[in-house]
Amino acid sequence: MRKKIVAGNWKMNCTLPEGKKLASEVIHMVEDEVNNDADVILIPPFIHLTGIHSLIGSSNNIFLGAQNCHQHQSGAFTGEVSAEMLISAGATYVILGHSERREYFHETDELLADKVSFALDNNLTPIFCCGEKLEVREAGKHEDLVKTQVEKALFGLTKDQIKKVVIAYEPVWAIGTGKTATAEQAQEMHAFIRKQIADKYSQDVADSISILYGGSVKPENAKEIFSQPDVDGGLIGGASLKSRDFTNIVKAFD
Ligand code: PGA
Repeated sequence: MRKKIVAGNWKMNCTLPEGKKLASEVIHMVEDEVNNDADVILIPPFIHLTGIHSLIGSSNNIFLGAQNCHQHQSGAFTGEVSAEMLISAGATYVILGHSERREYFHETDELLADKVSFALDNNLTPIFCCGEKLEVREAGKHEDLVKTQVEKALFGLTKDQIKKVVIAYEPVWAIGTGKTATAEQAQEMHAFIRKQIADKYSQDVADSISILYGGSVKPENAKEIFSQPDVDGGLIGGASLKSRDFTNIVKAFD
């Protein structure tokens, strides 16, 4: 059985007091109201990791993640944060290759291959993001593009390593735009990604990897998207900043 996951990417939002309030509300609502076994991941800015970690405590199904990490262990990389530091702050997941990192910070698939394998070496679970821009979809090249992203960043991994990766398909045109991919479009791409993994590794490996959908997921559309056979959960941006909405998205798995 694949793990069901709902991850909240706060991006560059919330002061520490705001983040603590948001996390406390989510933790309480999830504990009181959720009737499913999905893992919930809170992904605040780096500086809030320790503070949020102490609120999560020893919860069995709520985890902490970071939004990025560097591809070296330590050294003269001013402003960067290493995988080992994230682990020491209580994070167990790290988002790598978010489209905003690719776009604004010029992260390439080659760099992401290094980051993914480095995160794994440090026992951090990468949430590897892929997805096409609108013009690529309109040109009918979305599958080719996503295939290339997955191949370049992940296919250097061994079977045992790739099994530990979570993939997030996030069509760039759906991120923060209110325009969600239809459940069919999400399912089609998720099945396509799973097939690439099956062809390269094995069906067993492909069947063990959680593939999340991201892009304008809201309480209103989560159930339909999550009910698709190859969709194992969501990477949530905007709606993760509202405790009620985020909890209701987790409840879509009830
Ligand atoms: P969104 O963001 O839910 O606000 O569209 C998703 C993401 O960027 O991970």
